[in-house]
Amino acid sequence: RTAPAVIVAIDGPSGTGKSSTSKAVAAQLGLSYLDTGAQYRAITWWMVNNGIDIADPSSIADAAGKPDIVSGTDPAAPAITVDGTDVAGPIRTQEVTSKVSAVSAVPEVRARITELQRSIASAAVQGIVVEGRDIGTTVLPDADLKIFLTASPEARAARRSGELKGADVAATREALIKRDTADSTRKTSPLAKAADAVEVDTSDLTLQQVIECVVTLVEEKRAAK
Ligand code: DC
Repeated sequence: RTAPAVIVAIDGPSGTGKSSTSKAVAAQLGLSYLDTGAQYRAITWWMVNNGIDIADPSSIADAAGKPDIVSGTDPAAPAITVDGTDVAGPIRTQEVTSKVSAVSAVPEVRARITELQRSIASAAVQGIVVEGRDIGTTVLPDADLKIFLTASPEARAARRSGELKGADVAATREALIKRDTADSTRKTSPLAKAADAVEVDTSDLTLQQVIECVVTLVEEKRAAK
């Protein structure tokens, strides 16, 4: 028989290995994959490009319904477009990264993106790994498995500066803590560990070890379904 569809929510702050882990787990188990941070980055990219004042939440709210954001769900080739334009590269710039917390704190933005996320998850026949900040708490509270990845600020900053090739570790650490604080303290759907999530501290684990740990947890859930 075919394995039953399984919905996996992976949340946590940046630099915990969330994206690498989520993609690898999905690929290994034949599941779809959704990077919800990319969706918030894509709407932020659109706001920046369309002259929306990021300091004004009501302007952001008014524009929230305008861009057409389409996410691919293949873990081997994550894709994202805004009004038909491939934005996979542009959403990773420093400018978008520094503005995404303000945009994603606006309730109208969250409502719009959450609706997209739920429709993508319900269309994934084999199951899906959805990574973000509020997946287990708000977007998919009935997920089969919820993982909350953590790591020390030092480990997270070191990983991020490694990804950014030679970026200053101290500056990266500061920017990362600032963004996580904003994401954790916003009113609407903050970054939080769901009560029924399994917490995995990745500080002293290799990526391979984290992947194995999550794959085992997913397989256990599948077997129990
Ligand atoms: O995972 P990331 O760094 O690409 O996410 C970018 C930002 O998007 C993050 O700082 C907060 C926001 N975000 C969110 O508010 N909710 C999610 N489910 C995912 C990301």
